[in-house]
Amino acid sequence: MGKDVIVACDFDRASEMFDFLDLFRDEKPFLKIGMELFYEEGSFIVRELKRRGHKLFLDLKIHDIPNTVRKTMMVLSRMEIDICDVHASGGVRMMEGALEGITRLDGKRPLLIGVTQLTSTDQEMLENELLIRMPIKDVVMHYAQNVKKAGLDGIVCSPHEAAEVHKKFGKRFITVTPGIRFADSEIGDQRRIMTPAQAKEVGSDYIVVGRPITQAKDPVAAYRRCCKEFIDKPKTKVTKKK
Ligand code: C5P
Repeated sequence: MGKDVIVACDFDRASEMFDFLDLFRDEKPFLKIGMELFYEEGSFIVRELKRRGHKLFLDLKIHDIPNTVRKTMMVLSRMEIDICDVHASGGVRMMEGALEGITRLDGKRPLLIGVTQLTSTDQEMLENELLIRMPIKDVVMHYAQNVKKAGLDGIVCSPHEAAEVHKKFGKRFITVTPGIRFADSEIGDQRRIMTPAQAKEVGSDYIVVGRPITQAKDPVAAYRRCCKEFIDKPKTKVTKKK
């Protein structure tokens, strides 16, 4: 399992996505697309990004009853994605359903990870809005335990939890960490943040970086800076020409 920077492409039109990708000449970043682009463009966008040679995290954060999740994951299993996710708060049975659905007949499947607590959630919100009166770290660790029990590959969590997650669940249980900001960039709505270099220190496997790259004056330079801080050099080199 290699370390990599995943660029969160929170665009809602394919044309914006392609304009952004056209800036990259020498690298093929690992991309994450989310609900807004997928709901607008559907499976076309997945096929097109794969055709262009990108690795892809389809971040739909699925959460429903186990049967619906299993059937939804069967649909996703027909797409060539590399990572997909469900909300761990859906429970162990739901996650087991997700794993069953995403696994193709030949046994192959993308990485399947569980979202523990969103990095925009802080202790106050957890207690006052969600009525979960426990330290956020304990909640994340408990959800991680459920993710592991269901047989998934790892979790999405804040980089602040990555070291403890690896200590408790092992190095092979992967941590995908959003909430990444350069020391000199805007925090926005994120709460529990770290720089790419700090995320490397604590052992994150993948960092997910959105606005610090997509909204930068020079997105390619920002992507390179991330890679330099987190992995020294870009992992996902050009594989196919558009
Ligand atoms: O722009 P920014 O770097 O904050 O983007 C972070 C990305 O990671 C967004 O696409 C957001 O949906 C996603 N994410 C998150 N926290 C989670 C899971 C996913 O911020 N726990």
